[in-house]
Amino acid sequence: MGFAIILMCLLFYSSFTTISEAQQAFKCTERTTCRSLVGYKSPNTTSISSIQKLFGVKNLHSLLGANNLRSSTSPNYMIQEQQVIKIPIPCICFNGTGASNKMPIYTVQPDDGLYYIANNVFMGLLPYQRIQQVNKIENANEIDVGQELWIPLPCSCEEVEGERVVHYAHLVEEGSTVEEIAEKFGTTNDTLYRLNGITNNSQLIAATAFDVPLKACNSSVRSDSMDSPFLVPNNTYFFTAKNCVKCKCDAANNWILQCEPSGNKPSNRSTCPAMQCEGGSLTIGNTATSGCNTTTCAYAGFSGDQNIFTTPATQSTCPVTTGNCSQ
Ligand SMILES: *[C@@H]1O[C@H](CO)[C@@H](O)[C@H](O)[C@H]1NC(C)=O
Ligand SMILES: *[C@@H]1O[C@H](CO)[C@@H](O)[C@H](O)[C@H]1NC(C)=O
Ligand SMILES: *[C@@H]1O[C@H](CO)[C@@H](O)[C@H](O)[C@H]1NC(C)=O
Ligand SMILES: *[C@@H]1O[C@H](CO)[C@@H](O)[C@H](O)[C@H]1NC(C)=O
Ligand SMILES: *[C@@H]1O[C@H](CO)[C@@H](O)[C@H](O)[C@H]1NC(C)=O
Ligand SMILES: *[C@@H]1O[C@H](CO)[C@@H](O)[C@H](O)[C@H]1NC(C)=O
Ligand SMILES: *[C@@H]1O[C@H](CO)[C@@H](O)[C@H](O)[C@H]1NC(C)=O
Ligand SMILES: *[C@@H]1O[C@H](CO)[C@@H](O)[C@H](O)[C@H]1NC(C)=O
Repeated sequence: MGFAIILMCLLFYSSFTTISEAQQAFKCTERTTCRSLVGYKSPNTTSISSIQKLFGVKNLHSLLGANNLRSSTSPNYMIQEQQVIKIPIPCICFNGTGASNKMPIYTVQPDDGLYYIANNVFMGLLPYQRIQQVNKIENANEIDVGQELWIPLPCSCEEVEGERVVHYAHLVEEGSTVEEIAEKFGTTNDTLYRLNGITNNSQLIAATAFDVPLKACNSSVRSDSMDSPFLVPNNTYFFTAKNCVKCKCDAANNWILQCEPSGNKPSNRSTCPAMQCEGGSLTIGNTATSGCNTTTCAYAGFSGDQNIFTTPATQSTCPVTTGNCSQ
């Protein structure tokens, strides 16, 4: 009895708080799609493959890459209780708010309710009203065991301060501050206040999703590439070009994306296409040094007919004043 009353109060409380926040953060106005990230705090100690399954992530590699875990990591790798795992999601725009594109699909279990699913299974990443809205459920108390629900996780493809970024849905910790979040994720408190439509820390709500823009490495990927916009945030890696190329971002490398042949079997043919830069002497990821110039053969995207684009990218340490080389 007492439990039911507490649940009712929580329900009432969250319908006031979350709706007003949702108007501001995770905006979408364009028709573009992109990759986005959500932070899931595992409620129990469980294998990474069960998290992969819960979130409907197709490829274990993309989950490993988002968390910078070795690509040889076993599906049985254990995630500890309360550990935060970054989940990569494809983002679309739904009714003015970014949403994971028709995934994950959650099958209602006995004794589940929408509130429980939103807050205890998906840990508060979205308000239960959002699940109700996108699944067109008339009465939140009437869901059927076995019913399949689209869980529209929050995301965004919007530029922030004129820069393309990867939006990360960060689950707010009890007692944390905007300044701490800004510091942790390499952004500024002003950006976070503006993006989330709040003006002070007392409006930060524990156990709800907070929109954090992650700076991505600068890449040479063309806008007509199948994987454009190609945004890889610091300390993550990603397999692209049908699994043929592995790219990683390390802020310490001047925020320049580093790509190389993955050595994997491609997803849809027996061999990967050529990855040479013009002239043929360099393959993606190789560098050649000439005096003070270093030229890297950079990954520039791939096409529908399975060509991989390359481009030489030169970094110069030549003295600016003379343009000559000095050793
Ligand atoms: C879209 O959002 C508006 C206002 O937020 C809401 O009234 C409407 O029901 C939503 N439509 C759908 C299809 O979810
Ligand atoms: C961990 O929690 C999730 C979400 O509530 C649940 O689906 C899963 O079965 C649990 N796993 C274990 C090993 O208890
Ligand atoms: C937010 O950051 C600015 C600098 O970007 C700083 O001047 C200001 O004091 C910070 N605000 C708070 C409340 O810490
Ligand atoms: C923080 O925001 C709330 C709600 O907008 C307001 O009532 C409160 O006075 C603000 N506190 C400070 C310290 O500005
Ligand atoms: C990103 O790279 C392009 C060309 O490779 C360059 O023009 C641009 O200035 C770079 N942007 C940043 C922020 O480094
Ligand atoms: C990039 O990630 C590394 C490893 O987590 C971290 O030590 C570093 O502070 C990050 N740099 C920035 C600028 O976010
Ligand atoms: C694999 O290649 C075949 C023929 O090239 C194509 O019809 C099919 O759509 C491709 N599948 C995927 C998943 O790309
Ligand atoms: C280095 O690059 C600059 C400009 O790209 C060029 O003018 C110069 O000749 C190059 N030096 C060498 C040694 O290749």
